[in-house]
Amino acid sequence: MVLPLFVCPGEGVKREIGSMPGNFQMSVDQLVRECEEVRGLGLGGVILFGLPETKDELASGAYAEDGIVQRALAAVKREVPGLLLITDVCNCEYTSHGHCGLVKGDDVDNDATLDWLARAAVSHARAGADIVAPSDMMDGRVGAIRTALDEVGFSGIPILSYAAKFASVFYGPFREAADSAPQFGDRRSYQMDPANAREAMREIELDLEEGADMIIVKPAMPYLDLIREARVRFDVPIAAYQVSGEFSMIVAAAERGWIDYDRAVMESLIGIRRAGADFVLTYFAKVAARLL
Ligand code: PBG
Repeated sequence: MVLPLFVCPGEGVKREIGSMPGNFQMSVDQLVRECEEVRGLGLGGVILFGLPETKDELASGAYAEDGIVQRALAAVKREVPGLLLITDVCNCEYTSHGHCGLVKGDDVDNDATLDWLARAAVSHARAGADIVAPSDMMDGRVGAIRTALDEVGFSGIPILSYAAKFASVFYGPFREAADSAPQFGDRRSYQMDPANAREAMREIELDLEEGADMIIVKPAMPYLDLIREARVRFDVPIAAYQVSGEFSMIVAAAERGWIDYDRAVMESLIGIRRAGADFVLTYFAKVAARLL
């Protein structure tokens, strides 16, 4: 299990995310403490998301050498050695408009965005990331990131591609957590249509051809059929992302006494695992580790 964490500027900051009880926006010092706990629980690792000081049209904070995620990586690598650090490579937390790439007219410019993604991935690797995970869904980004990493000597840094990522309503709470809701339109021109199963397989195939080492199916519970299908078709490690909305629904129902929290957590994760996921990105990681 891999725990998603949100890092923000400041010191001593630990702000609970309203729609995701038990999850926090944390400054680097607090993040380090959280990571110590995660390591102590024996989790597989963490995946980091950043909230920058400022946002702009060019997502500068995403690929700044001293960006928020880059600073967090350096600190956690130093203070919590041995913990696996994955970074989410995307622009939506860093753009003023909240889209995952360069906006031209009413749409995102796919190819112009590839350069930002490649630079972000390289800056993460430099700062201490063990694995980079592009989640933007631009076509060709895995190849661009692979080439850029190899050019500067990071051929050993694997790419965990969010290959089958759907335009899902279940990302709702995350957009509060990462302050990344699009200011206009939606992500349907670059994320996938929930009705398209075969397209998901094609996206995975393309990402693997471009050099992805592992892939993610996201969200998890509404897409168990695709986790299974990917498991049957592709001999690579397959991850599932149990996303914010999946987490918050269980928490909310449990808070109302409508469902048994511990059992719901475990049953949801077992289902994802049974479908064929080798590992799971989940906000329940710490809870489940304690139950186990
Ligand atoms: C960035 C990104 C998102 C999530 C992971 N990376 C948001 C989105 O695509 O809108 C969602 C994770 C979650 O809901 O837990 N693009």
